Amino acid sequence: MAYDYLVVGSGLFGSTFAYEAAKRGKKVKVIDKRDHIAGNIYTQNVEGIQVHKYGAHIFHTNNKKIWDYVNRFAEFNRYTNTPIANYKGEIYNLPFNMNTFNKLWGVVTPEEAQAKIAEQKAKTNIGQPKNLEEQAISLIGTDIYEKLIKGYTEKQWGRKATELPAFIIKRLPVRFTYDNNYFNDKYQGIPIGGYTQIVEKMLESPNIDLELGADFFDRKEEYMQQFPKIVYTGMIDQFFDYQYGTLEYRSLKFETRVLDQENFQGNAVVNYTDAETPYTRIIEHKHFEFGNQPKTIITKEYPSSWQKGDEPYYPINNTENNEVFKKYHDLAEKMPNVIFGGRLGMYKYYDMHQVIGAALSAVDQEFK
Ligand code: FDA
Repeated sequence: MAYDYLVVGSGLFGSTFAYEAAKRGKKVKVIDKRDHIAGNIYTQNVEGIQVHKYGAHIFHTNNKKIWDYVNRFAEFNRYTNTPIANYKGEIYNLPFNMNTFNKLWGVVTPEEAQAKIAEQKAKTNIGQPKNLEEQAISLIGTDIYEKLIKGYTEKQWGRKATELPAFIIKRLPVRFTYDNNYFNDKYQGIPIGGYTQIVEKMLESPNIDLELGADFFDRKEEYMQQFPKIVYTGMIDQFFDYQYGTLEYRSLKFETRVLDQENFQGNAVVNYTDAETPYTRIIEHKHFEFGNQPKTIITKEYPSSWQKGDEPYYPINNTENNEVFKKYHDLAEKMPNVIFGGRLGMYKYYDMHQVIGAALSAVDQEFK
């Protein structure tokens, strides 16, 4: 068929765009270099459990329009994210709240907790924080920093907290209520039956053709000539042949195992906040969906450095990278036949609701 659009990437951005364009009668070809759809929200049924292949994904938003939109494609369960921290075998609730403070110090009322934090801060004697360690201690004192922040953050960034810039932690979410809900958003849940079905339904229109295992860069010139318009959700620096240099990322390695036991850790997400444990967290997938299968599946998450060819997970939005991105973005602005979008095209950490929002804005812009 004669296509109106080539969409590069079947993640949430590309698929939302393809769905909306197809709904408007446009003919769309979607390609993805992976052998499956859905990008990083891909979930796979193993032993009857939906496994989040690219890390834990919890949908949360304050935006009713986006919540209603995504609910068209799946029914959501009542999962509320309540991660816990394991510090050398001691368990603490996250985010920092009255349950955490009670376990740490035995305090019972918010007033007692506030007094304890004030006392810890007063002891520190830090002027203008010069690094992440000083920043965290000046915000919350030494106990929480030592047990719940230091080791985790150092593993995440692969550097000592004293060598990390203070700005990484602008503020620390602290709650003086007994509320373990990680997110403050109005709407939250996990799609019953997994995330992949959302993208499957988005792409099921007869106006959409899908080709998996197809890397845009294997046929870039041909695609650029053949398609009147391209929606590109891959890495923006790669599109421009890295002419201004390579944008940096942090990566992750996942180690997934099926265990012959029903319940491994009693919670979907457990953060390991000490420095010695090499992984930052263990995900037990069945607890996202209240599963009671005889087996369980766990994934250990190891932060890792990134080199070209690794999976780029988290953009490192420091001043240098942002300046390089701006140069690429300026080039992109001069290409009216290419829409750059998604987390790799915009070099930006987007949550799922934000990426749907960004795709719907691109649709409004395109079809106004
Ligand atoms: P995405 O990366 O999903 O899709 C891009 C697609 O393009 C991929 O399928 C890729 O294969 C393809 N592609 C790239 N280059 C190509 C090329 N050259 N040729 C062909 N195809 C190409 N959000 C949230 O709301 N709640 C959460 O709990 C989490 N948790 C979370 C954990 C971890 C570890 C990460 C890294 C991220 C999250 N997220 C999240 C964020 C969420 O994953 C994110 O918002 C969406 O997946 C972004 O969708 P995109 O379409 O932008 O990118």
